[in-house]
Amino acid sequence: MNGIVIEQASAPQKEADALLDAAFGLDRRTKASYRLREGSRPVDGLSFTARTSAGRLVGVISFWPLVIAPEGREALLLGPLAVHPDVQSQGIGAALIERGLQAADAQGHDLIFLVGDAPYYERFGFAPVVPHGRILLPGPFDPARLLFRARQAGALNGVQGLLLPPWRYQAGREKTRA
Ligand SMILES: CC(C)(COP(=O)(O)OP(=O)(O)OC[C@H]1O[C@@H](n2cnc3c(N)ncnc32)[C@H](O)[C@@H]1OP(=O)(O)O)[C@@H](O)C(=O)NCCC(=O)NCCS
Repeated sequence: MNGIVIEQASAPQKEADALLDAAFGLDRRTKASYRLREGSRPVDGLSFTARTSAGRLVGVISFWPLVIAPEGREALLLGPLAVHPDVQSQGIGAALIERGLQAADAQGHDLIFLVGDAPYYERFGFAPVVPHGRILLPGPFDPARLLFRARQAGALNGVQGLLLPPWRYQAGREKTRA
């Protein structure tokens, strides 16, 4: 983490894309979490960058709005979190997550989902949704990689639903009413 500066900011698209390609590979857009971000924008104040002292972008994290259909309960999606392969395992990922979670908590968000590796995210309070609730995503996904962090114990117990970006949830409701 020496000389790395974390800032609340969005990275310019081209710079962020180059970092995400390096961290996730070129097939990254086929991932389940992309379907949850499609057509949405990150939540204001919940995007962070990590840069070297020379200004090189080496890490990003952002949080996106979600709704659990059909009830309409609001939640966040954490992702993408990426740290450039040149500088991994120096605590940059942890610093980005901790900064992001602090800001999300301060904004009052009490439920956060992500699609990722439980062995990495458990240290930040995330756990697999199964067996707590029964949550689906649009399209195929590996249930063992759908994780959540709730500020209140038992927050997901018995909850069933489909995670959607808010605009898709609204569009579905309008179609039902028509
Ligand atoms: C996952 C990622 C963000 C971690 O960033 P980082 O800055 O290297 O993380 P930290 O320095 O905070 O933590 C590193 C530790 O996490 C471990 N770790 C990293 N990825 C892991 C994973 N997928 N599963 C389990 N442990 C993992 C490392 O082995 C390391 O352990 P160590 O401290 O015992 O050596 C980064 O490796 C990355 O961008 N990977 C590619 C994209 C990705 O997988 N993003 C996350 C979505 S699942």
